[in-house]
Amino acid sequence: MQKIEFFKHNLSQEDKEECLKVLDSVFLTTGASVKDFENKLAKYMEMPFAVGVTSCTAALFLALKYLEVGEGDEVITSPMSFIASANSIEFCNAKPVFADVNPQTGIIDAEAVEKAITKKTKAIMPVHLYGQMCDMKQLRSIADKNNLNIIEDACHNLEGRRDGYKSGQLGDLACYSFYATKNLTSGEGGAITCHNKETADWLAKARLHGMSKSAADRYTSNYQHYDMEFLGYKFNMSNIEAALLVHQLDRIEFYLQKKERIAKMYDEGFLNNPFISKPDVLDNTKHARLLYTIWVNPSKRDEYLHKIQEKGIGVAVNFRAIHLMSYYKNKYGFKSSDFPNSEKIGDSTITLPFYAALGDSEVEYVIEEVNEIVKS
Ligand SMILES: Cc1ncc(COP(=O)(O)O)c(C=O)c1O
Repeated sequence: MQKIEFFKHNLSQEDKEECLKVLDSVFLTTGASVKDFENKLAKYMEMPFAVGVTSCTAALFLALKYLEVGEGDEVITSPMSFIASANSIEFCNAKPVFADVNPQTGIIDAEAVEKAITKKTKAIMPVHLYGQMCDMKQLRSIADKNNLNIIEDACHNLEGRRDGYKSGQLGDLACYSFYATKNLTSGEGGAITCHNKETADWLAKARLHGMSKSAADRYTSNYQHYDMEFLGYKFNMSNIEAALLVHQLDRIEFYLQKKERIAKMYDEGFLNNPFISKPDVLDNTKHARLLYTIWVNPSKRDEYLHKIQEKGIGVAVNFRAIHLMSYYKNKYGFKSSDFPNSEKIGDSTITLPFYAALGDSEVEYVIEEVNEIVKS
């Protein structure tokens, strides 16, 4: 039996040496390495500004705070996402309002978003699920018609495009994750991209207690007193994380090509199994290929999950529908059948190992075992 890890990162000698340089220096917290990474990320995302933070959850929260989302406000988001999307709205004492997803792709349905708009709606938070972008052109036009802002949960999408646009370009703010299993990773980490300096300056202060000067400002020149301009938080990215990330960006498209090839092998390998389906990949998109999921018979899903695991293959479920988590059911009274497309995906999904270092024979083993197990 083979052992196929669910995920392996791509950290290279170059990344480790860059990190060692920081560890051998005196300055470990937010400083020059973070600035370098932010500039490089902004360039890659074709955006003017990027701000490094500690996670995508923190990024989403800061973006909502920047838009002054608070008590009594509603933010429309997807129930087919990681709980962080809705939780960030809860952190602001605002209400997450769910709009169901397209059953073929799992990404939020723009028409459902439009229907969910009320007088209390303040923003829309689309989620580019698995690395396939939502219809940002349509969402932008809905947002503009209703005077709403868009915060993109772009946690799954650094590399992708839709209709020629990258994430962040049509939204007001876009949030990214460098969590352990992401295409670009420092174990934990996140970033926000935005369009103007005023927003970037606010986010840079808000990630560090609302302070007018950071430790790097005080360290690199004559001591300067800081003021606290507003009540901020403690979400600043460290030089250690930034050093691990900065060179990975040079290799991100190379790894994407490898993942594209693995996705094709999986697609072909499951093509003739009538009991396996998978999310559609749209023609007008470049898919960021973060996760590869298959859909199986919901009544058999958990049994299959365990059987695949017993064959030494790492699996996950991305994701079970958020509105059916106990907290959300208890607080808002959600029930099964409220968002049927998300529920169906949540009940039938199995996420398979999917990373650049996965060898052909490992992919073939996964295909063979999964086809052997998923038979009804
Ligand atoms: C869609 C989505 N949004 C947000 C997050 C939160 O990211 P982080 O762990 O960096 O806070 C995740 C985590 O994987 C996610 O999948």
